[in-house]
Amino acid sequence: MRIKDCNNIMDFRRLARRKLPSPVFHYLDGGADDEWTLGRNTSAFDDYELLPAQLSDVSNIDLKTTLFGESIDWPVMISPTGASKLFHAAGEPAVIRAAEKFGMIYSLSTLGTTSIEDVGAIGSCPKMYQVYVFKDRGVTAGFVERCKASGFKALCLTVDTPVAGNRERDAVYGFSSGRLRLRAVPSWLRHPGWLYRALLKNDLEMVNLATSDRSSISSEINLHDYFNSQLDRSLTWKDVEWLAELWDGPLVIKGVQTVADCRNAANSGATAVMLSNHGGRQLEGAPAPVDCIADVADALHDRLEIICDGGVRRGTHVVKALAMGANACSIGRGYLYPLAAGGQAGVERGLSLLRDEVERTLALMGCNSIQKLGPSFVRQRANS
Ligand code: GLV
Repeated sequence: MRIKDCNNIMDFRRLARRKLPSPVFHYLDGGADDEWTLGRNTSAFDDYELLPAQLSDVSNIDLKTTLFGESIDWPVMISPTGASKLFHAAGEPAVIRAAEKFGMIYSLSTLGTTSIEDVGAIGSCPKMYQVYVFKDRGVTAGFVERCKASGFKALCLTVDTPVAGNRERDAVYGFSSGRLRLRAVPSWLRHPGWLYRALLKNDLEMVNLATSDRSSISSEINLHDYFNSQLDRSLTWKDVEWLAELWDGPLVIKGVQTVADCRNAANSGATAVMLSNHGGRQLEGAPAPVDCIADVADALHDRLEIICDGGVRRGTHVVKALAMGANACSIGRGYLYPLAAGGQAGVERGLSLLRDEVERTLALMGCNSIQKLGPSFVRQRANS
């Protein structure tokens, strides 16, 4: 199987599984506890049906929109995800170049493997930086300054990680647990290129972390301990006010699900929310983002941009989310599987397939502009 044989995002998952050492694949693919939320993120889209309005002249389909005050070519953005170089040597730069070609917003994670400054210098697509609030507020303030200097357009605070989620696959497959690492040795040995980069070239460092806390994934492979030791559990909405003032630009709160939290976000100075449960990797039992859109949009669409982040694998998912009131969707695994499968070419093929699916779905629905999508195009399936 090659990337040209991939016809949809989940085909890239199959290819990624072959290309990656198994601990790395399962780190990417896995979720918390029994992975109910992980599965629900995608299956919840099946609880909605699309209602076409036929014979509506779909000779031209307009996918363009704006997000964070930036023009984008279609309503999907790249989610912040850690350690792209873990999944492919081409890492973050490959994804930025692909995002630029597809007129998208790129997000860099605090746990990324390319520096804020290098990301700022690559390509001209609008960029968002994802921060955590560290126990040492100076670390977070330092990121904000660096993002301003590097031309980032938006800042995103992830609020769903007061402690690390219980990712049991990481223990089973030897990603984070020293005890079981031996079991993973055969898999590492089948992927010598990965081993070389991890052990000799050392290019898997989380380069944005201050030198004092800099963590090399290759030596520790333990994000779990990192979260638990560095992130501030005492965080409240007051800290969001602090961050909003410091950043003074588009501020996105990622990891909320309820109207109450989204209202808190708006009241604290945020301009957008990412309805997200961290890809099912944090709170098991959290609802699927798509199920949260309608209520949040009803209550707050005039105060916040709403991004659906989680479970998006198909163009129909994007269209359902927008019809229910989201301004855009965001993809994490949706671009990481293609990255792992084939670097920049993989990401470009994945994005191209997804964008074509969005466009085709709109045509089949008799809707020639994403701006026209609304509740009349979607309904909850009976008995769901
Ligand atoms: C990092 O944010 C992760 O979910 O592994």
